[in-house]
Amino acid sequence: MNIVILAAGKGTRMKSNLPKVIHPVGGVAMVERVVQAARSIGATRVVVVVGHQAEQVQSLFEGQSDIHFAIQAQQLGTGHAVQAAVDQLDESAPTLILYGDVPLIQSGSLQPLLESANSGAIGLLTMNMQDPTGYGRIIRDAQGAVTGIVEQKDANAEQLQIAEINTGILSAPTAQLKSFLSALNNDNAQGEYYLTDVVSMASKQGLAIQTCQPQFDWEVAGVNSRHQQAELERCWQLHQANQLMAQGVHLYDPNRFDVRGELDCGQDVSIDVNCLFEGQVQLGDGVQVGPNCYLKNVQIAAGVRIEPFSHLVDAKVGEASVIGPYARLRPGAQLADHVHIGNFVEVKNATIARESKVNHLSYVGDAKVGQRVNIGAGTITCNYDGANKHLTEIGDDVFIGSDTQLVAPVKVENGATLGAGTTLTKTAPADSLTVSRAKQITIKDWKRPVKKK
Ligand code: UD1
Ligand code: CA
Repeated sequence: MNIVILAAGKGTRMKSNLPKVIHPVGGVAMVERVVQAARSIGATRVVVVVGHQAEQVQSLFEGQSDIHFAIQAQQLGTGHAVQAAVDQLDESAPTLILYGDVPLIQSGSLQPLLESANSGAIGLLTMNMQDPTGYGRIIRDAQGAVTGIVEQKDANAEQLQIAEINTGILSAPTAQLKSFLSALNNDNAQGEYYLTDVVSMASKQGLAIQTCQPQFDWEVAGVNSRHQQAELERCWQLHQANQLMAQGVHLYDPNRFDVRGELDCGQDVSIDVNCLFEGQVQLGDGVQVGPNCYLKNVQIAAGVRIEPFSHLVDAKVGEASVIGPYARLRPGAQLADHVHIGNFVEVKNATIARESKVNHLSYVGDAKVGQRVNIGAGTITCNYDGANKHLTEIGDDVFIGSDTQLVAPVKVENGATLGAGTTLTKTAPADSLTVSRAKQITIKDWKRPVKKK
């Protein structure tokens, strides 16, 4: 299959410096979503027609050898746009036309179009609309066969009553498509070369024209404005929420839930309100995510509880661990099973072995922490000397008293105890108490100063 994606338009109504088709829906640039749909139905050749800010659209696909580009310098109509791409199409395979600003088209709705074109027919994706204003209307003869498409601006009063509209998405055998396109003229109300005119040409030549409908209306909705972008975002989010609920995920409120990427959930996962998932996120069986959490590119094993307001990026959490509330896991945080990370604790580039706890107000960065370690409140790994980062190594069964600074590189051996307030600069030996603290003194009967009169 050849796929042509029209993406030359300016997108004036977005009021943006960026080309319209690189604006995101569901966290992915619209045109990238369309390319994903093309790939998912086995496109062998994808040609993106670019015009306005072409380089910016092209740079999105750098290094992706299956994506080709055609330049349409002037936008003279949808037919003219496809013409720009025809030289690059493989005639032995049919062609499907998609739109860079119609981002949510799903492979299931494209499948019948593939079949139509493979059988030598034209395939049209159409839809019945309560208010078809603005769209091209599908014209059928008395037998119900499609004979053409009439644009809103060219339609007569009777044609304007037709509820069946052209979504714009169509498929055709490539050789015929090329010959129809070369015969297009711009003799119409808008003075444009209409892609839609190939349909009446095909009908006159006796080609079969088959129609099919999308599964969901939003699949064929285009984005021209910020409002439409936001509307489509909600459609997409609700769709993802519905799919997850159908798989058994408990969403406290599908309207307060966002996935910008892919969320993969095990059984009996529950997600409270206002959570945002980005990139690739995996939640194992029984994971509970509290309200207002942000998770990006993380793997969370079974039975983990993530308490409210936690922020996790590029991290891994082992089974039955408890994170938060107000915890921050930064890139390279790797927690084994049954680990507890409490409030206002930040973990970065650190492995923490099973059953260890960092429950309050601490920073663990560039560290290796053993099993069954207890890190007291206010403990800091001083990993950065202003120029380089250094490692802190903490063995198994270590107890670290509150308000301790571990000045890296430094090591705490198995079973060591650090007294509260220690500033550790040398190895803390195994099974011993290490403490660095000024001796406590008491001045008896000491009087506080009093204010002079
Ligand atoms: C088109 C269809 C109409 C259909 C509607 C669905 C034609 C003539 N009409 O109308 O039947 O109901 O879509 O939304 O095809 N583009 C280019 N280069 C151009 C012109 C357009 O790349 O020279 C791109 C635009 O950026 C846009 C898409 O093609 O993404 C559709 O163009 P637009 O002008 O919006 O078509 P409509 O008039 O809406
Ligand atoms: Ca339009």
